[in-house]
Amino acid sequence: MLVLEKNSITEELEALVKEHGTERSALMPILQAVQRKHRYIPDFAQQEIARLLDIHPVEVYSVISFYSFLHSEPQGRNIVRLCRTIVCDLAGKDEVENAIKRELKINAGETTKDKKITLEHTNCLGMCDQGPAMMVNDKIFCKLTPEKAVEIIKNIK
Ligand code: FES
Repeated sequence: MLVLEKNSITEELEALVKEHGTERSALMPILQAVQRKHRYIPDFAQQEIARLLDIHPVEVYSVISFYSFLHSEPQGRNIVRLCRTIVCDLAGKDEVENAIKRELKINAGETTKDKKITLEHTNCLGMCDQGPAMMVNDKIFCKLTPEKAVEIIKNIK
């Protein structure tokens, strides 16, 4: 698990506040910067952001919970996002998802024990005519079958 020194988090956040200011509108860019660097926003960072912006920690947490690209738990080094929107759903997304879950031994929203892969749902990836579709990090895969999806997963394991 990624261990972050509290002092270095505070220093990092103070620099971000210097860059983005202390207005309420600074919250999102600060959260995105922390997410980008650490792949999640640790509890202590959430408290420090709230202190520095003079807002309640619950407000910080609720923003993190609302946006699927922000996380309060460590994420895997690879993010698998399976489209759950209706067209992919009708094209066999459930079979693909079940095969991936069996292969990784996790459910959607979870990360493998070795922190290599996180499985998530996403909304339409813009490849509806070629579903089921999924995105692995920033690469999109289409016309998935359970076998094809497992093969892709095995290649990143
Ligand atoms: S519905 Fe899945 S890519 Fe559009």
